[in-house]
Amino acid sequence: MYNFEYKNPVKIIFGKNTIPKVANEVPKNAKVMFIYGGGSIKRSGVYDTVKNALKNIELVEFGGIEANPHYETCMKAIETVKAEKVEYLLSVGGGSVLDATKFIAAATLYTSGDPWDILAKSSTVEVKKALPIGAVMTLPATGSEMNGNSVITRISTQEKMAFSSPKVMPQFSILDPECVFTLPDKQVANGVVDAFIHVIEQYLTFEVNSPIQDRFAESILTTLIEEGPKVIADRKDYEAAANFMWSATMALNGLIGAGVPQDWASHMIGHELTALHGIDHGRTLAIILPGMMNIKRNNKKDKIIQYGKRIWGITNGTDNEKIDAAIAKTVEFFESLGVPTTLHEYGVTIDTIAKITGRFEKRGFKVGEKADIDFNEVEGILMDRL
Ligand code: NZQ
Ligand code: ZN
Repeated sequence: MYNFEYKNPVKIIFGKNTIPKVANEVPKNAKVMFIYGGGSIKRSGVYDTVKNALKNIELVEFGGIEANPHYETCMKAIETVKAEKVEYLLSVGGGSVLDATKFIAAATLYTSGDPWDILAKSSTVEVKKALPIGAVMTLPATGSEMNGNSVITRISTQEKMAFSSPKVMPQFSILDPECVFTLPDKQVANGVVDAFIHVIEQYLTFEVNSPIQDRFAESILTTLIEEGPKVIADRKDYEAAANFMWSATMALNGLIGAGVPQDWASHMIGHELTALHGIDHGRTLAIILPGMMNIKRNNKKDKIIQYGKRIWGITNGTDNEKIDAAIAKTVEFFESLGVPTTLHEYGVTIDTIAKITGRFEKRGFKVGEKADIDFNEVEGILMDRL
């Protein structure tokens, strides 16, 4: 196992009817910006619950954060934060609203240049301070509620970029599984796939003798395979919703990734598909992962075989046959949730593959746990999924 440092200061408040507890967490005397998305919280009643709980707090509302949040919208929010002298940010919504809130928190206090650098130059720009954040999470998927990651899309250039900083980890996140009740099938499926592949990115790499991390990862995968279909079948199944929600948080709060190699290449390629084609994040991953497993079958051999055996019970055949079977099972699972896994099903053609490959070449990116996936291999992975 590798050396690691792990600290996760996010307070989780989990369970039924927990949203009113937001009043105990938000500072009493601060001016708070209440940030939300396109209106789902108004339809579900979460908006009213938060407003009632915070009736004695001075709130500035900022709605309209898009799915795959726009940089341009965040910059408008920052103007309001500054004009209104907002001191605290409350995100109420899915991963997009929270990711936008994190960027707003960091960019408001960023004085060293163009705020876009926080994203575009994330490997060299350090976020030194950020406004404090609290969150009410309405969609299990990203794990944003318990991590310091944020992914933002710049519409003018069709770029989707991420940054990560402990400074933007929420002080608290409220997770009420009843929020799942109002999710459309598509968002549930996207969330199950996203959480599943967050685990895979930290697990399906190479052996470093980390049985705790491996078995934690496998327990999350198994839980998603068991609970995901229950949530799709019955949106009011509270227990299934709760287990799904906690799986998504545990998948990306840093715990299973501590001390082990991490991949994230499926995410890097997937972000390009969202940027260029607007395909939902989880769906891009369902397309890319099977190609990644196929093209990197030698590098990832031991872990794919372990995954096949422990998750899907695959024990027969040669190594290559076991890997083929593990890929087939993974595809079958995503498709059983209603998520198509090939590019042509989303209308993506070879032209887009050329564009994505070109971007990787231009940026000089090499991705994956061994930083050995260059633009040529990116092309191979995408062609595998055409
Ligand atoms: O905008 P509103 O009206 O709120 O509607 C949203 C949106 O249309 C709706 N929704 C949310 N909660 C709901 C609901 N509808 C009914 N009932 C509810 N309880 O669902 C739609 C999708 O919401 P969004 O927040 O975009 O989804 P998700 O949570 O999957 O977030 C996706 C974004 O997170 C990024 C993705 O790239 C994408 O931009 N990611 C963030 C990560 C992180 N911070 O760690 C990691 C991930 O890998 C991912 O990249
Ligand atoms: Zn993801």
